[in-house]
Amino acid sequence: DKGGWSSFMAKEINEQPDAVENTVRGRISETGVEIPELTELGDERLRGIERIIIIACGTASYAGQVAAYAIEQWARIPVEVQLSHEFRYRDPVLSDRTMVISVSQSGETMDTLMAVKYAIERGVTTVSVCNTQSATIPRESDAAVYTHAGPEVAVASTKAFIAQITALYLIGLHLGRVRGTLSDEVSAQAVAQFEELPAKVREAVDTHEQIAQLAHWMADTRSVLFLGRHVGFPVALEGALKLKEIAYIHAEGFAAGELKHGPIALIDHGQPVFVLVPSPRTSPLMHSKVVSNIQEIRARGARVIAVVEKGDTAVLPFADDVIRLPLADAFFEPLLQVVPLQWFALELSTVKGLDVDQPRNLAKSVTVE
Ligand code: BG6
Repeated sequence: DKGGWSSFMAKEINEQPDAVENTVRGRISETGVEIPELTELGDERLRGIERIIIIACGTASYAGQVAAYAIEQWARIPVEVQLSHEFRYRDPVLSDRTMVISVSQSGETMDTLMAVKYAIERGVTTVSVCNTQSATIPRESDAAVYTHAGPEVAVASTKAFIAQITALYLIGLHLGRVRGTLSDEVSAQAVAQFEELPAKVREAVDTHEQIAQLAHWMADTRSVLFLGRHVGFPVALEGALKLKEIAYIHAEGFAAGELKHGPIALIDHGQPVFVLVPSPRTSPLMHSKVVSNIQEIRARGARVIAVVEKGDTAVLPFADDVIRLPLADAFFEPLLQVVPLQWFALELSTVKGLDVDQPRNLAKSVTVE
């Protein structure tokens, strides 16, 4: 049941405030974050972890890339993200002090399942972030931290992505508390961000009308680029993936700092570029760098669509379109920024007359390697 929406994807984008709220529920309190499934692993084991490898495919891997920044910051453990199907072919350096966190909406993706099995054979601690109760991957893993986004039907993942970042952040905060690397102040700040998040995600969902207009004007677009920095970089990758998946448009995401090392050669007159602009309040240095990037591409003819926090006027002289989002701490920006990018892919797919929920050549859950 699409609940009155034109597609499951539209319905699921709209359900994102609930996906966040339900994933956080029961896991935060005044004393910070506690995930019972991690507590069961034993604090001694968690204190001994020296390295975290997040394994996933597609959208789930971008959720991992976003969260890697936050987990490192909060738990002071080196975190890397590897694609499941690449992981075991590199003969990874693993030990009983390694934690492998798999991220999978379905919990059945064969590439990820095989990687988890490989990790189990090598004696590492395995944690599954999964949206499907009792799926194979969480059953095989030492601990399952479920995302509570509700069933996701559209092939292109939306609410699961937001819920995955949420769950991974909670894991980072739990680890930081147990390991003593997280101050009470930072913990309380993160908890407060989570409490305010559903209402902010709702505001991000409300950009729909504006984005629909934009997609309407851009119906003939053949290539779209996305730029982001820090946690905005994986958001750029996710925005590009969404467009490929459901609008069949060539799209690429870049780290904004990498622009001058190659991708800027792609910029030609009229080239649309979405730029995820970090907050000038929380990240003034990154903000000014990204504004410079915008000036550079604009001078070369790019059509700039800037995604900014409300009140950021620095980009106004250089942007063709400005999408405004509520204020949030740096780590929480991706959970808002991704929403207009999801709408953009959906609306471009729609104006092109494509099947939003069932894109060609793709399956919701890929159970072959
Ligand atoms: C792909 C889907 O095949 O699998 C993507 O098309 C998804 O949307 C990826 O992100 C991973 O799926 P899962 O279930 O492991 O999160």
